[in-house]
This record gives sequence, structure tokens and C-alpha cells, in this order.
Amino acid sequence: MKSHKIAVIAGDGIGPEVIGEGVKVLKAISELNPEINFEFTDFPWSCEYYLKTGKMLPDDGMKILEKFDAIYLGAVGYPGVPDHVSLWGLLLKIRKGFDQYINLRPVKLLEGAECPLKGVDRSRIDMIVVRENSEGEYAGAGDWLFKGKPEEVVLQTGVFSRKGTERVIRYAYELARKEGKTLTSISKANALNYSMVFWDQVFEEVGKEYPEVKTYSYLVDAACMFFVKQPERFQIVVTSNLFGDIVTDLGAAIAGGLGLAAGANLNPERTYPSMFEPVHGSAPDIAGQGKANPLASIWSVSQMLDFFGYESWGKAVLEAIEKVMTEKKSLTPDMGGTAKTNEVGDAVIKALGELAAGM
Ligand code: NAD
Ligand code: IPM
Ligand code: MN
Repeated sequence: MKSHKIAVIAGDGIGPEVIGEGVKVLKAISELNPEINFEFTDFPWSCEYYLKTGKMLPDDGMKILEKFDAIYLGAVGYPGVPDHVSLWGLLLKIRKGFDQYINLRPVKLLEGAECPLKGVDRSRIDMIVVRENSEGEYAGAGDWLFKGKPEEVVLQTGVFSRKGTERVIRYAYELARKEGKTLTSISKANALNYSMVFWDQVFEEVGKEYPEVKTYSYLVDAACMFFVKQPERFQIVVTSNLFGDIVTDLGAAIAGGLGLAAGANLNPERTYPSMFEPVHGSAPDIAGQGKANPLASIWSVSQMLDFFGYESWGKAVLEAIEKVMTEKKSLTPDMGGTAKTNEVGDAVIKALGELAAGM
């Protein structure tokens, strides 16, 4: 029996609250199917840890994490530590250090989820955003010259390597071909006259190897408009790091809210562990009150199960989430309910048990 080693970094704010529910779901799956086993190791790396030690993770932190099969992360960032310090010290360090160059974020209106768009039903919101996750606008390259002086200059350089651009675009073409779906590239070559001209060129070049994939290419501003007006235009979407960050919060908004949006940071070659996390942040405004919606982090558990090859369990977790949302008895306030975070987790586990009985 294979045991999957999972590093749990609950992080800050609502991170520990929502991650606790995801871990509960994984444990419930082990109970329902004793062939599947998980070993969890908790790490306290967070802003609180930083305030005590001056570091977001210890010097040998990446070496420790490297031995795990997956990382399950809550959220990072809390008032008291500047965001660029906490995020570069932990989340972005892991994404880059473990070459998790694919950020897979489904934007799918599940059964029972509320859509704020008038007259839009489930059939019209079903896409997967493939976000570049290792470079681009998040390369971290730049400088801050003449700090505090009148001639102060700040540079933030986007880095789009051929390798980095090709591999994410190729991944998206492969996915579109496998699923028989269209592929849309989101860029901005009219203004970003180097990086995005290059992006568009690579999208076209790689596309020659996939003549069967129908493609579209939109400027990011127009794409945002279409996300709201005609979300059915999008099936598989590929875009840069920053644009992917922005359009997936927009995607979350049209597909049930941030409390329901999940993401997987993948190192497809499996040289390093991949990391699973909700799209949302640490939500300091509701932290510690039991109000956090755990469904996003539970959906990322479903992505983890898919990644481990347990697709039928990944699907069952999504169906359990749908069951809980359709019944509407155990929902957190962001979804119009009064349930506590742990009650939603319990309801998902109950639904999963019922589904498993028929599996
Ligand atoms: P946020 O996603 O934490 O919160 C935005 C809004 O959505 C808030 O009103 C919050 O209450 C609500 N919300 C988010 N998740 C929710 C959930 N599960 N259930 C119910 N409501 C939820 O974004 P922010 O406020 O811009 O950022 C807060 C902190 O989190 C910052 O430090 C930011 O840098 C960090 N952040 C971290 C990650 C990450 O670690 N992956 C992602 C985004 C933001
Ligand atoms: C996300 C977050 C991160 C990002 C931040 C916290 C650095 O917003 O995962 O969407 O921009 O990638
Ligand atoms: Mn984001």
C-alpha cells in the first residue's frame, strides 16, 4: 500500500481553519478506502513564525519539503509582516524553488453554487486556467534606485524565457487536445511590446504542432469583459503569471466566490513536490471566527487526489461539495448560510460517505 507524504503548511489567518477541514476529508477517504494512506507532517511556517525567528521558513526548509509527495498550504500573509516579505519568503519561494511552473485553476460553476451573473447557468462557466507560475511579471527582477531621493526610480522587470513560455503554452495545448477543448491565450501585446509580443509568437509557433486544437487569443482587458459577459467563450485558458492571478480572482467571483476557488501548483515532471492551495488569502477580516469557507481548500484536496492518480476520489470530493451546496443546510456566511467552518467540513465528509456507499 502506498502512503503519500503530505507536508501541511497551514499558514496565517484562516489558513489553519480551512486546511484542518481538508485534512479531515483526506483522513475520511483513507477510512473509506484503506488502500489509500496519507501521512501528514505539520509545519508552523507563517508570519507568526517569522515574528519569532526572523524567517518565514528555516534555512533547511526547502530540503525538508523536498522529501514530501505534496504540500498542502492554507494561506500566507498577515498584518505585522510586509506582504512582499512573507509571500516571497514562503509561497513564492516554494513555487519557484520547486519549479511548480503550472498553476492549474478551475473556474467551474458547480451545482448549487451561486452565480452573480444574471441568467447565466452552469453550462456557461466551465474552464481551466493554466497560469504560468515560475517567472513573467513575478520574476522578482528589478531595482530600487536613489531610494527616498527626488530622482528615485523603481524597476520591476518581467522575465519571459523561451523555455518558461514554451513549456506552459505546450502544457495548455496538451490539455486542450486531451480534453477536446478550445484553447484561449490571454496576453497584452498592444502595450507590452516585448514580453507579450513574444508570448503571442510562441503561442502561434507551438500551436502549429496542435492543428486539431481550435485557438483564440484575447487582450487581457477584453478577456475580463468576456469573463463576465460571455464566460462560455473560454474552455482551456493559458496566460502569464500576473494576468493569471487577476483573472482567476475574477473567475472565482463568477463561479461561487473566493470561498470556492482552488488551485494546484504543479511540477509536472514530479522532480519536486507539487503544492495544493485555495486561491484565496488569509482573510484577516474573518480570521479566528469560524466563518471561513473551507470548500476552496477541500476542492484543492480533490486536485491533489487527481494528481496522485485517485481520479474517482477526486471526482467524489467535488460531488460531495456539490451535494452540500445543493442541500444548503451547511454553508458559511459568504454563501448565505450560518454554518461554522468545521460544520461545512463535516457535511462534506457525510456526503462523501453516502457517495462512497454507491461507488
Ligand atoms: P483574501 O483572499 O484573503 O480576502 C479577500 C476577501 O475575500 C475578504 O473579504 C475575505 O474575508 C474573503 N474571503 C477569502 N477567503 C474566504 C473564505 N475561504 N471564506 C470566506 N470569505 C473569504 O485577500 P486579501 O484580503 O487581499 O489578502 C489577505 C492576505 O492574504 C494578504 O496578506 C495577501 O497577501 C494574502 N494572500 C495570500 C494568498 C496565498 O497565500 N495563497 C493568496 C491571496 C492573498
Ligand atoms: C495567489 C496569490 C499570490 C499570487 C500572492 C499572495 C503572491 O494572490 O495565489 O493568487 O499573486 O500568486
Ligand atoms: Mn491571487
